[in-house]
Amino acid sequence: MTDVSLGMPQLPAPDYPADVRARLEADAREVIARYPDSRSALLPLLHLVQSEEGHVTRTGMQFCADVLGLTTAEVTAVATFYTMYRRKPSGDYQVGVCTNTLCAVMGGDAIFDELKQHLGVGNSETTDDGKVTLEHIECNAACDFAPVVMVNWEFFDNQTPDSAKQLVDDLRAGRPVEPTRGAPVCTFKETARILAGFPDEREGAVEAGGAAGPASLIGLRLAKGEAPPARVVHPRGEAPQGESPAEHPSSHDAPQQTSASDPDHPAGPTAEEGE
Ligand code: FES
Repeated sequence: MTDVSLGMPQLPAPDYPADVRARLEADAREVIARYPDSRSALLPLLHLVQSEEGHVTRTGMQFCADVLGLTTAEVTAVATFYTMYRRKPSGDYQVGVCTNTLCAVMGGDAIFDELKQHLGVGNSETTDDGKVTLEHIECNAACDFAPVVMVNWEFFDNQTPDSAKQLVDDLRAGRPVEPTRGAPVCTFKETARILAGFPDEREGAVEAGGAAGPASLIGLRLAKGEAPPARVVHPRGEAPQGESPAEHPSSHDAPQQTSASDPDHPAGPTAEEGE
């Protein structure tokens, strides 16, 4: 009997059908050849096996261990550490609602609660039609556009409960959806194959951009010696009562007092230790 790795008594896993294994082995050779040390290919190979089945199965982990000369325990340790690897069957579209601090207070918590009700699923669960897996996710470095929802890691900025419900309804109905920034949405398996390092063949994907928001760019403009804008319009054009949108210095998107704008505390190089 094959050795069983510590902590994984249910292994070894069943193998892929011969034709699937042959195809994946050819793909794996291509990925492994990109690295001086084969074990460095583990992360993309986990995406590769995820692209086959929609999640990282025991079979997929056994495959990675085989082609990389690792133990299944080593592969499992990595696959269970990173949240981008799913450990159970998922839908065609992973809808991730950012509920990290900024998005949460800007409406992310409300969006997540509404979607749970609307879809009839909890966190990390999939709708009966197999279309949508709902997840709350951590900060995706898009705080300028809070609250943010991601579909297979493409950004949908400045969402509301209603816009998020419309989004999942469109996904489930097969209607086209368009991210606010970045490449067009594809299925979770297709996304996994791109993340494994294979060409992104979505039309317009390579040209697609996704600039940082105005609040992030204020720091860059100050560093370049440019004057920051006096006001940054709230992303959704909404303003608290009594203020017009153009005048609302939102707590997270308005320029803050900085050394460059404070003559009493001018910015300057900090002396190196020993100078
Ligand atoms: S807190 Fe949601 S993107 Fe940063």
